[in-house]
Amino acid sequence: MARSARAFVTRQTRLRPVPGLETIRLHLADEVLPLWHAVQIETGDADAALPYWAFAWGGGLALAAYLHDHPEAVADRRVFDFASGSGLCAIAAERAGAATVTAADVDPFAIAAIGLNARANRVRIATVGHDLLDDDPPDVDVILAGDCWYEAGLAERILPWLVRARALGIDVLTGDPGRRYLPVDDVIELAVYQVRTTTELEDLDRKDGRVYALRPRP
Ligand SMILES: C[S@@+](CC[C@H](N)C(=O)[O-])C[C@H]1O[C@@H](n2cnc3c(N)ncnc32)[C@H](O)[C@@H]1O
Repeated sequence: MARSARAFVTRQTRLRPVPGLETIRLHLADEVLPLWHAVQIETGDADAALPYWAFAWGGGLALAAYLHDHPEAVADRRVFDFASGSGLCAIAAERAGAATVTAADVDPFAIAAIGLNARANRVRIATVGHDLLDDDPPDVDVILAGDCWYEAGLAERILPWLVRARALGIDVLTGDPGRRYLPVDDVIELAVYQVRTTTELEDLDRKDGRVYALRPRP
């Protein structure tokens, strides 16, 4: 699967600079529905996940911009990019001087895309392709979570895992463009960026992407 997934990602996307973060290049698609259909055919699975990995999402764009402006958040630290998609935040962390970067996503095409995108940007990123939310948080210094508050069921699983990580002393940074399930009472806003996204994914092609730190619970 790994090899054919890489070939599929390469075939279905174009390597190009990320809007607003032009020093990072990603394998990106223009249209979501035809690509989703291609994924369904490739996997033989009508319920295949949306090809999140082929787009830079608003939350990830804001978080990557924040790491560019605040490299001290990750420099010389062990970073884990949860729900990495294309690997955008992982690449931004590596560029900002992280000691090590691991990217996790449950979609095998995302793992393929992260590998291809890491290579295109000449950065080293380890990957984890299984669901970690029932495990202990990883032994790292910082967890990044870009644009992961878009679904109730997922948000309900992510929050306790990140709260546990925070209680262990891990810094947790999340980027969000106004999704419904952002846990507003648990976060502190650090920055806001106007991010360039696409009406393929969002109602507007520019959005305010906010970066938050998860606050420790008493
Ligand atoms: C909206 S995308 C965000 C991608 C990237 N962080 C960004 O901002 O561009 C959400 C990602 O979460 C991944 N995901 C969903 N459930 C997950 C889980 N349990 N563990 C890890 N990743 C998951 C999806 O496969 C998808 O790539």
